[in-house]
Amino acid sequence: MLEITDITVRFGGVVALNEVSARFTQPIGGIIGPNGAGKTTLMNVISGFVEPAGGRIERDGQNLLALAPHRRAHWGLRRSFQKEEIAEDLTVFENVLVQIDHGRAERGRKSAEVLRMLELVGMADRMDKPGEALNSFERRLTDVAKCLVGSPRIVMFDEPAGGLSIDETRQLGRLIRAIHDETGAQTLVIDHDVDLIREICAETLVLDFGKRIAFGPTSEVLDNPKVKAAYLGTEEIGI
Ligand SMILES: Nc1ncnc2c1ncn2[C@@H]1O[C@H](COP(=O)(O)OP(=O)(O)O)[C@@H](O)[C@H]1O
Ligand SMILES: [Mg+2]
Repeated sequence: MLEITDITVRFGGVVALNEVSARFTQPIGGIIGPNGAGKTTLMNVISGFVEPAGGRIERDGQNLLALAPHRRAHWGLRRSFQKEEIAEDLTVFENVLVQIDHGRAERGRKSAEVLRMLELVGMADRMDKPGEALNSFERRLTDVAKCLVGSPRIVMFDEPAGGLSIDETRQLGRLIRAIHDETGAQTLVIDHDVDLIREICAETLVLDFGKRIAFGPTSEVLDNPKVKAAYLGTEEIGI
């Protein structure tokens, strides 16, 4: 369980998050809301890029905010960004291996783990391809594999379906759904594609202007009039 309690973030005069609370208990949770709602900021707080003015974040009773950002990564926090971080001059295999290369496990075991995750994301047949030769979907899949090695406990995706086709989005959705069974990690997903959120997230948090306007089972949340109103008149995909 990931418990977010009264998180507040201010950037100068802007209140990016205003006492936001949510208790994520399911394998996959969604975070949605119009542009500027504070979604990415919440992930930044969880991963340690942004320090909140107040509030707590606990995973199964462990206080995540007490861990320095690099310790959070070591603890098992993984994050993918809107733009993937793929080294152009490394192969797919090497891009994933560097995530765990510093660890204590022996080389053969690390290689086996990298291979297992490349098989899971469907990139094992292209593991020798250099980063610079990858198309956008292959980059995305490689980025997912990077998040899955090294025993992750929480994996966060910020708009993973951005720029993908409908078929690619479906494939990515299936992959995200497999993460919990394959690694045990809990996953949080931000996306504008409400169909994707509905499909893969059992529970969803809705933010608007830094405030929580709904949280709970995804189908209930998407039916909530307040949530529909928040999306009206925006350029986001309608619910
Ligand atoms: N590093 C920052 N410095 C100043 N303002 C920021 C920073 N990051 C985000 N903001 C502001 O905080 C608000 C929430 O942004 P963000 O979390 O990126 O929204 P979302 O991901 O929901 O689109 C916006 O008003 C944004 O301009
Ligand atoms: Mg964002």
